[in-house]
Amino acid sequence: MAVVGAGSIGAAWIVVFASAGRHVRVYESNPSTRDATRATVHGKLVELKTAGLLDDEPEAVLARVLVCETLAEALHDVVYVQESVIEDLEVKVALFREMDRLTEPHAVLASSTSTIVASAFAADLPGRARCLVVHPGNPPYFLRVAEIVPADFTSAEAIAVAHDLLAEVDIAPIVLDHEVEGFVFNRLQGALLREAYCLVRDGVISVADLDVLVRDGLGRRWSVIGPFTTSELNTRGGLRRHGEVIGPVYARLGLERGQENPWTAETIERVATEVQAQLPHPDWEENVRERDRAMTNLAVLLKSFENPLVRRREPAHPRASVVDKP
Ligand SMILES: NC(=O)c1ccc[n+]([C@@H]2O[C@H](COP(=O)([O-])OP(=O)(O)OC[C@H]3O[C@@H](n4cnc5c(N)ncnc54)[C@H](O)[C@@H]3O)[C@@H](O)[C@H]2O)c1
Repeated sequence: MAVVGAGSIGAAWIVVFASAGRHVRVYESNPSTRDATRATVHGKLVELKTAGLLDDEPEAVLARVLVCETLAEALHDVVYVQESVIEDLEVKVALFREMDRLTEPHAVLASSTSTIVASAFAADLPGRARCLVVHPGNPPYFLRVAEIVPADFTSAEAIAVAHDLLAEVDIAPIVLDHEVEGFVFNRLQGALLREAYCLVRDGVISVADLDVLVRDGLGRRWSVIGPFTTSELNTRGGLRRHGEVIGPVYARLGLERGQENPWTAETIERVATEVQAQLPHPDWEENVRERDRAMTNLAVLLKSFENPLVRRREPAHPRASVVDKP
C-alpha cells in the first residue's frame, strides 16, 4: 500500500498502517518533509511504545516504511493508496489523474480529504470506480474511526476493500450511504461549534467555560456512549419519551437559530428501535447500570490522569467562598 503526502495526517496514517504490519510506500513532494518522514514516524512510534500502545519495536515497524523519491516509485504494485496531501481541489484533481495513470487498475485510491467529495476530484477519470474518500479523525492512531464516503460512481468492491483494510488495522470503518458536504464527523462538529460561537457572541458563557463544559461534561459521557444512547439512557422511557419531552424544546432552539428540522415521529421510532437493538440488555434499568459501570471505569482511569493542557483554576471570588465554621 502507499501513502501520498506525509504531513500531519499522512505521517499518522503511516504509523497506523505500519504498526498493523503493513508495508507502506510513501511519496511526499516537499523534499525536506520527505527527508524527515522516517524520523517523524519513528518519534511517534517511540512515544506509542513508551506508553505501552505499540506491540512491535519501533525499529521493526519503521523497517516496513519505504520513502520513495518519485510518485511512480511509491505507487509501484500497490493495491491501496491513502492520499493525504494539502486540502486543495486543484492539487487533488491533478494528483488523482496521476495516481489513476500510475497504479494497477484494481488498486483503490482513497483521499483523506476533510471537505472535498470524490465526485469533485475523480469524476472524469477512467478509473473513477475505484476512487473514494476515507476521512480519518486526527490523529488516526488515537481516534480510531474513519468515514468511507463513496461517490455515486464508486464501486461496491472499492468500498469493501477500504472497509476491510480499515477493520484490519483497527480503525472502525463508518460507511456513509452517499456524499454530503462536511461528511458526518464535521457536520456534527460544525453543529456544536455553530451553537458555541453564538453562545460566546451573545455573552452567555465564557470561552474557557464552554470548553470545560464540553470536555468534562458532554465529552466525558460521549467517550463511553454516543448521543443517541445517551438520550435513551438519560430518560426513563428511553428515546421515545425523550423525543416527546425534549424534542419540542430542541425544535424551538433550532428555530431560534433559523433551523426548522423537528425530529419526526418516524425518525424517533427508527432511532429508538435501532439503539435498543444494540444495547446489551432488554431491561432499561440494567442498561443504565452498565452505563454507570462504564463511567465508573472511566473515572478510575482518569483519576491518575494529569491533563497537560488544563490549568488548575483559582476560585473566582476567594473572599466570598463559603467556609465551614466550627
Ligand atoms: N489536519 C486534520 O485535522 C485533518 C483531519 C482529517 C483529514 N485531513 C485531511 O488530510 C489531508 C492532509 O492534511 P494535513 O493536515 O496532513 O496537511 P499537511 O499540510 O500537514 O500535509 C500535507 C502534505 O502534503 C504534501 N503535498 C502537497 N502536495 C503534494 C503532492 N502533489 N504530492 C505529495 N505530497 C504533497 C505537503 O508537502 C505536505 O507535507 C487534507 O486533505 C486534510 O483535509 C486533515
